[in-house]
Amino acid sequence: MARLLSLSSSSRSEGSITSRLLKEFVSEWKLVHPKDSVLELDLSKEKVPYLDEMLLSAIYADPQARAEEQKAAYKQVERYTEAITDSDVYVMAVPMYNFSVPAVFKAFIDLIVLPGVTFKMNGSAFEGLLKNKRAFVITASGGNYDQPPMSKMDFLEPYLRSVFGFLGVTDISFVKVQGHDAAIVAREQENALTKIREYVKRGSLTAVK
Ligand SMILES: Cc1cc2nc3c(=O)[nH]c(=O)nc-3n(C[C@H](O)[C@H](O)[C@H](O)COP(=O)(O)O)c2cc1C
Repeated sequence: MARLLSLSSSSRSEGSITSRLLKEFVSEWKLVHPKDSVLELDLSKEKVPYLDEMLLSAIYADPQARAEEQKAAYKQVERYTEAITDSDVYVMAVPMYNFSVPAVFKAFIDLIVLPGVTFKMNGSAFEGLLKNKRAFVITASGGNYDQPPMSKMDFLEPYLRSVFGFLGVTDISFVKVQGHDAAIVAREQENALTKIREYVKRGSLTAVK
């Protein structure tokens, strides 16, 4: 039995392409893998805190010496790190905002990249501690970033590959809905749905392209 972690981050509660595809992914997963558990977090509604001075001090304080405010703040960090460390598959709906991930998604990443929890030093090298995990990213953008010169402006896919790779998650797949023409968007959503169904059916042990 595995655990699926579903993360959404679109600011739109209606008409969101990534949220719609995420919903399809999760219901397909529940159908095909009924014994698995599923944890769903909507980061746009979670009020994910920024890594400000208080939070930073709470994270690195001696656990016994944490002030009440720091304890409460650290609880939320733990909730997110546990969501990540205790799940086997991550499905993440991440729209492109200003060529990268939404701020709420970046705030979440700032809380889960934690030494001793999701990565450690191994001699002088970094070692990711998220072993045997898989990630599936559903993204959407108004522009198309497949070819130069636009491809140079895509900081979303390289960033997510880098940060999750750093944490040890190298099996990472992307489906993209790109463009604003209605017919193209409809076709891309259908293609994305096909890839989602294939991935879910395989319980994918290898990334799809
Ligand atoms: C705040 C904001 C920033 C955006 N920035 C970009 C961008 O940099 N590049 C792009 O191609 N599309 C951009 N878009 C368009 C979205 O990526 C596109 O509408 C996508 O479908 C949003 O995901 P959603 O449908 O799940 O909400 C932006 C949209 C918003 C609301």
